[in-house]
Formats: sequence, structure tokens, C-alpha cells
Amino acid sequence: MKNLKEHWNTVYSKSNTHKHTWTQDVPRTTLSMLDSLKLSKEVEIIDVGGGDSSLVDNLLGLGYKNITVLDISEEALNITKKRLGDNAHYIKWVVSDITEYRTDKKYDVWIDRAAFHFLKDETSILTYLNLVNTSVSENGYLLMAAFSDKGPTKCSGLEVRQYSNENLTSLFESNFNRERCVFEDHTTPSQMNQNFIYLLLKRRKLGLIPLHNNAADEFVTYQSTNALSTEGSCDVNSKGCCC
Ligand SMILES: C[S@@+](CC[C@H](N)C(=O)[O-])C[C@H]1O[C@@H](n2cnc3c(N)ncnc32)[C@H](O)[C@@H]1O
Repeated sequence: MKNLKEHWNTVYSKSNTHKHTWTQDVPRTTLSMLDSLKLSKEVEIIDVGGGDSSLVDNLLGLGYKNITVLDISEEALNITKKRLGDNAHYIKWVVSDITEYRTDKKYDVWIDRAAFHFLKDETSILTYLNLVNTSVSENGYLLMAAFSDKGPTKCSGLEVRQYSNENLTSLFESNFNRERCVFEDHTTPSQMNQNFIYLLLKRRKLGLIPLHNNAADEFVTYQSTNALSTEGSCDVNSKGCCC
């Protein structure tokens, strides 16, 4: 398999935003979690694996001033920059594999929508966890969206890890408390169903024990508005592959 950067650049150069199975015109669940936090518009936000998502458009529209979008694919970020036009200048763009990203910056909100679940091996996962633990500010938040254990096993031709509420929480609980868990049935443009888990986690002060909010899981649905008759050359499986 060619390297990851090349893989994702090819995905973004061959397909368009409305054809990706993961695209959401408005990433409602992430935005509703963010809105519930009532944060200042000055907070430092990073969208990890932001791709050509409209999340950044929405964040700018809501008045957030300090936004970083990171992706392994320069091609994806160029699509987003082009769409934003002059507003692209307000964003910090980072082309990097997240497992190679090193920063002294502290982020108040770390968002990851369907990038973390591509990390399969223990070393990459531990590197990611270490980065989150050192880069999210005290009292900061982590908004994580990944395929649930009822979701697809592959995306864009790559195997992914699926996560339950318990095992996703346990990965981060040495430093974060779980605040909220939402399961989303996402309907792709070709009407496939993909089940995502969204976790909202809050950074805990050092030395304190995990104190999770035991509020019941929530369930929502997201219907893509861009219905397509086919999904290109995607390797569709019964749980809704994503390409
Ligand atoms: C399924 S897409 C999701 C895109 C976007 N977050 C969204 O919600 O529309 C996964 C994204 O993660 C990026 N990605 C995958 N592995 C990555 C890695 N190791 N480091 C940084 N970005 C990565 C891909 O380039 C792609 O843009």
C-alpha cells in the first residue's frame, strides 16, 4: 500500500466533497456539543484530520477566532482554503500526519471527526494519546467522533478501529472525564448507514480520579442531503463503507 499521505491526496483529488460518505453539510452533533460548552470565541480550537469538512466554515461563522485545521492531505486543505477564499487567512493550516505533529501550543478544544479511528497500531495510538494529553489545556475539551462498534470496519479503503463508549472513554480517562456520549446514525449519499460514536471529554486537573458524567447515551440521526445513485469505486460492505 502506498504511503498514507499519497493515499489521502489521491482520495481528495479523485472525489468531490459531496461524494465522500463522511461529509456533513453541517456537522451538527459536533457543533451542538461545542455550543453546550458556552466558551469564549477566543479559545484555541484544532480540527484534527479536518479534510475538506465544513466544520471550519461553521466555526468561523460562529465567530471563533483561533482555529487550526490539520490534515495529512495538503490536497484536502487546499480544497477547504479555496472554498473559504479570503477567510482562509484567518485559519492556521497544518499539513502533517497527526502522529508526527509536535507543538508547544495548548488547545482548549481538540476536535477529531473520523481521523483517530484510522490509527490501528499501538504505537500510533499511544503517540496520539500522548499528544492529546500534552496539548489540551487544563479544563480543555476533546470532541471525538469515530466509528462505533456497530459502524463500518473500513473507510476509504483503509481498515479502521471501531470504538464503544467504554473503550473510547478508557483510552482517554487518565486525563479526561467523559461528559457526554452520542451515537449517530449517519446516512451516506448512497443511503448506507454508518454508526458513529461522539464523545465529549473534559480535561481533568492532574491527580484527580476519573469522574464521568453517567448521563444516558443519546441517539441521533444524520441524513446526508446529497443523495447519489452510486458511490463510485468504493468497496461497500454491509455496514456502509466510506470512501
Ligand atoms: C473520514 S475523513 C474525515 C474528514 C473530516 N474530519 C470530516 O469530518 O469531514 C478522515 C480525514 O483524516 C485525515 N487523516 C487520516 N489519517 C490521518 C493522520 N494520520 N494524520 C492526519 N490526518 C489524517 C484524512 O486525510 C481525512 O481528511
